[in-house]
Amino acid sequence: MSAAIPELRQFDEAELDRVFARLEADAAAQARMLTGGESLEAFRLQWLGRKQGLLGQLSAAWLKSAPTEAKPSLGVRFNRLKAQIESLLEESRQQDQAGSQASGLDVTLPGAAPRVGAEHPLVKTMAEIVGVFQRMGYSVGLGPEVETDFYNFEALNFPPNHPARDTQDTLVIAGQERKPLRERLLMRTHTSPVQIRSMLEQAPPLRLVIPGKVHRNDAADATHSPVFHQVEGLCVDTQITFSDLKGTLDHAMKALFGSAVKTRFFPSFFPFTEPSADVQISCIFCGGKGCRKCKHSGWIELLGCGMVDPAVFEAVNQRRSELGREPVYDTRKISGFAFGMGVDRIAMMKYGIGDIGLLYSGDLRFLEQFA
Ligand code: PHE
Repeated sequence: MSAAIPELRQFDEAELDRVFARLEADAAAQARMLTGGESLEAFRLQWLGRKQGLLGQLSAAWLKSAPTEAKPSLGVRFNRLKAQIESLLEESRQQDQAGSQASGLDVTLPGAAPRVGAEHPLVKTMAEIVGVFQRMGYSVGLGPEVETDFYNFEALNFPPNHPARDTQDTLVIAGQERKPLRERLLMRTHTSPVQIRSMLEQAPPLRLVIPGKVHRNDAADATHSPVFHQVEGLCVDTQITFSDLKGTLDHAMKALFGSAVKTRFFPSFFPFTEPSADVQISCIFCGGKGCRKCKHSGWIELLGCGMVDPAVFEAVNQRRSELGREPVYDTRKISGFAFGMGVDRIAMMKYGIGDIGLLYSGDLRFLEQFA
């Protein structure tokens, strides 16, 4: 790196302007080529160095030969050139530092901790419920969230236009009117259609838990969300009785909420079970004495259940025949029970969550509390 020493022919202003402009342009061009570190120091020495520096050499030579009246003007120009070169140097130094911060590796800095993901409280609760049944020998079944009217209603003994359909306010897929009713698509309102799908695929005996997302046209409030989750259960075999249902659910509730929890069964109605029951557990907050959480009753309603209605087995047999499969759900030989529970409510109880909307907000400040 070197700058040519310009020739100074005379000391008039025009010639000084020309020569110093040339020196400035040379310095600026060199500064643009600097690559940091050693090149900065070489640049500094070349222009400003005490012994070999160009500025020192030029000022010594020119000031000596300049006429007296030209000396002040020459001095001012040297000072200005020196200041310009110093600021070019400073600029290059700063750029060099910024560059090494961006690309360099400073091993003394604390490490950047990666943000570790965690299970959503709903997923965690669902896995816990499923686990309880898996340990009793149940396997896991899944089905689609977009269902046909047949699986969601008809095969489950909700006939077309039957008032039982009004209990599950349904979100339907648009533009289905030209299809026969049973083929029309909707968002499944419960996980029960997977009972039918499973029985079409498999012959008895059957023990299945079915976790999943369901949808209803409910207005959102603290306890309702148009999207929520259920875990369904289905057990079909010879000689399955209501006492099997009671024993299974009593065990499951104790496994989920603690061995002190009691269960009780109330007559209820579902089109696909007969008899049907609602299951209550003794209040996990007050132990059954009565508190605000259980509305001072000592009990909390948690799930629906019942013995599989023979009409369901018949619908399955009929569809199996249509599909060329053996109609093996013989209502004279086999029986079964089914149950369904809301995962959101159970998660809210377990974790003390007051508003179901929080589970769907995606708010990390909320979710981090369960990590
Ligand atoms: N599918 C019912 C509901 O969503 C619950 C249920 C499942 C009831 C299985 C009985 C048997 O309300």
